[in-house]
Amino acid sequence: MELQNYVPIQSLDLEAERAITFDLYLNLPLNKKVIRYRKKGGTLESQRLAQLLDGNVTNFWIRKEDYKAFVMYVAKRLQALVEHPDPVTQKNMAVVSAKAILTSTFQANDSAMVKALMGNLNEITIVLIDSVLENISPIRKKAFRRLMEFSDKGTDFHKHPVNVSSLAVLISFGIGYSTNKILTEVAMGALLHDIGLARLPARVSASAHDPLALNPADRQLLYDHGQKGLEILDEKSIVVSEIVKSIITQHHEQFNGFGYPAGLRGFDINEFAQIVRVADELDHVVRNHGDSADSLRRQLETLFFQLHEEKIIEPSLANRIRNLFL
Ligand SMILES: [Fe+2]
Ligand SMILES: [Fe+2]
Repeated sequence: MELQNYVPIQSLDLEAERAITFDLYLNLPLNKKVIRYRKKGGTLESQRLAQLLDGNVTNFWIRKEDYKAFVMYVAKRLQALVEHPDPVTQKNMAVVSAKAILTSTFQANDSAMVKALMGNLNEITIVLIDSVLENISPIRKKAFRRLMEFSDKGTDFHKHPVNVSSLAVLISFGIGYSTNKILTEVAMGALLHDIGLARLPARVSASAHDPLALNPADRQLLYDHGQKGLEILDEKSIVVSEIVKSIITQHHEQFNGFGYPAGLRGFDINEFAQIVRVADELDHVVRNHGDSADSLRRQLETLFFQLHEEKIIEPSLANRIRNLFL
């Protein structure tokens, strides 16, 4: 059996006493073997799973062709959590699930895989958001779907808004926000965060992550993309909440006061705008991190170090988010 036909998953991803929808394998490096541990349709007993987690067994594997089934399995689990009646259990389990999903995506060992896994992350979030949307009014639901299509066309980076939305939702979930309302607002704000770039010349929007590469006039244009975003929504008569507006106008502000456009400082910056900022940076790293095996992990470490040390993000928030990835 060739290991390259398998993908590692975290044992944290698995839920005891629930039928698995894929074959589960163990890698035995000493025997140079991968063995099937549980068949599709089988379950892991609570006690056994607890033992595995205690013993730090994290190296379950599944076949690559089962990855889709695995993604749906995880998405269903999140969906169930959003509806969980006990807030304390819900919160604890949400942290574990979000962490499991994010680490199994970001710790894959090659960059093509990480990009493929981002697609899965998007599917997980769409299932999650769909269940969240069940509980909101049909008008809001329609608006959301429209926004989703709209923002997909709205920028140069085809997948960027959807990726940022998925990451922002999972991060929010993982640090303890699990109400329908908040998750919907975050998803919406993240989808729309860069909508204003659509109004800028391509040379400007292409340097959205590197303002210093632009001449002063172009930089000013870039600094305006949040405001432009609000104008676009206004023209299209799309009504959004204050949280969504803050995400659009503040996702480049920094806790240290050196962000743009307003140079807001500290707790004047909306927390969800900061979460979207982190998701934005993460998507940028994934798209540009190159191909060497451990470079993604190194770059994530550098990114979180910077966000924290330079106080780009409120330090305790930066730490809580970092814990979900590393
Ligand atoms: Fe932006
Ligand atoms: Fe962005």
